[in-house]
Amino acid sequence: MKIAIIGTGYVGLTTAVVLAYLNHEVAAVDKDTHKLKRLHEGKSPIHEPGIQTLLDEVGYTIRFTPSVAEVVPEAELILIAVGTPPKKNGEADTRHVEQAAREVAQVCHPNRHYTLVVKSTVPIGTNLRVAEVVDEVFATRGIQGNVSVASNPEFLQEGLALQGAFYPDRIVVGAHCDDAIDALRRLYQPLLEQTFDPPSTFPRPETYHLPPMMTTDPSSAEMLKYAANTFLALKISFINEIAGLCEKVGADVTEVARGIGLDTRIGHRFLQAGLGWGGSCYPKDTAALLGVAAQWEYAMPITEAARAVNFRQREVIVEKLRDAFKTCCGEKNAMQGKTVGILGLAFKPNTDDVRSAPALDIIRCLVAAGASVRAHDPIAMPNAEKDLQDLMALDRTTVDFQEDVYRLSHGADALVLVTEWDIYHRLELRRLAKQMRTPILIDGRNVYSPHEAREAGFHYVGVGR
Ligand code: UGA
Repeated sequence: MKIAIIGTGYVGLTTAVVLAYLNHEVAAVDKDTHKLKRLHEGKSPIHEPGIQTLLDEVGYTIRFTPSVAEVVPEAELILIAVGTPPKKNGEADTRHVEQAAREVAQVCHPNRHYTLVVKSTVPIGTNLRVAEVVDEVFATRGIQGNVSVASNPEFLQEGLALQGAFYPDRIVVGAHCDDAIDALRRLYQPLLEQTFDPPSTFPRPETYHLPPMMTTDPSSAEMLKYAANTFLALKISFINEIAGLCEKVGADVTEVARGIGLDTRIGHRFLQAGLGWGGSCYPKDTAALLGVAAQWEYAMPITEAARAVNFRQREVIVEKLRDAFKTCCGEKNAMQGKTVGILGLAFKPNTDDVRSAPALDIIRCLVAAGASVRAHDPIAMPNAEKDLQDLMALDRTTVDFQEDVYRLSHGADALVLVTEWDIYHRLELRRLAKQMRTPILIDGRNVYSPHEAREAGFHYVGVGR
């Protein structure tokens, strides 16, 4: 099928590459000339495991262009995958989505049928609005266009995006018209029936079952995307709330999570207590859902609490560090003059994304309290440096970015493990502890067993244990 994708961010580019791999004829539109330049050079502008290999394999079949007019008229399906950044009040800003729809409608042939698919995460009612925008443009053009609008929310996880795209749990389509449902069924046929030869980098998991395609109305599809993210966010916040009480009563939250996860109604996943969630999705989507609720004067105390618990975790970790300094150094102003090493800046492993990353809030807090900060991340240091520009402008040495964890820990007073990158699972704890001034390890992701870390000489503090 001939596909045009508007937007080459995480969702747009992953979708483009996967659809091209499935032998669709794909064109991808982006206005960002820097991104396009990289794509024309065959390089991925995003960090996502496996994407470069697939771009090398099928990228040459994808037409990357800044022009909607160049590719939309001949396409059968047009996917909108542009950003919906938060407005000041937390609501999602759908301006880019509407603008994309407007530009598409301006170049559609009057006598062809198109399916216009909204993949961006959008507030409830946006698909209806997109259909209105398209009709408005057709009215001004004085034509009777033929465009069906459909919602097709995306459930990709950063760092696991391609795995999720080839082997989805489900495909959701929200549309009123059979033409659109049929077009999307044809688009996803190779995934629904798993008829493609898996790429060598993403073999089909042995236990994988064919995914269902759920069809529903557009508003329910929009709503279920927010509900899915909010549910996962609150599952994590729930275990973090339990973790806090575990610490008080002397229980171990990892044992509690193991036990409750054995109940198939609960399940093991997304029950890792720690520093909680960051990234571009949960913080933004929970706020956007509350924004929708506010418009309807509807209270959502569970969602509000999930956010409060989540952001409290960042303060909890700083408090743990303060307490550890008091215990180990016995000083009143525990933070002043201390050197703290931050392990992990990305909001999760396998990405360079630092949006709403816990590490950045923690660093700001430490600097404000008078500590010197050293920081390490396998790939997210440049993005973190950009985000911390205001701090760095005052003094270039405020955060000392280090390429090597062992150099970072030399003479440091504490390490805070913020992101559970693979390399942090294999640290030589004894070596680290020996070369630190005070061997304190605040393990914000419960990567190490308290026993192991203490044996290695650390004053160890985890979350909920
Ligand atoms: C999330 C959803 O998982 C995707 O299904 C969705 O498509 C995406 O948002 C989106 O809306 O675009 P993502 O934000 O990439 O994906 O990452 P997750 O893997 O869900 O992790 C989010 C955060 O939760 C990370 O900061 C992670 O460290 C944290 N987390 C995750 C925990 O603290 N504990 C856990 O047990 C699991």
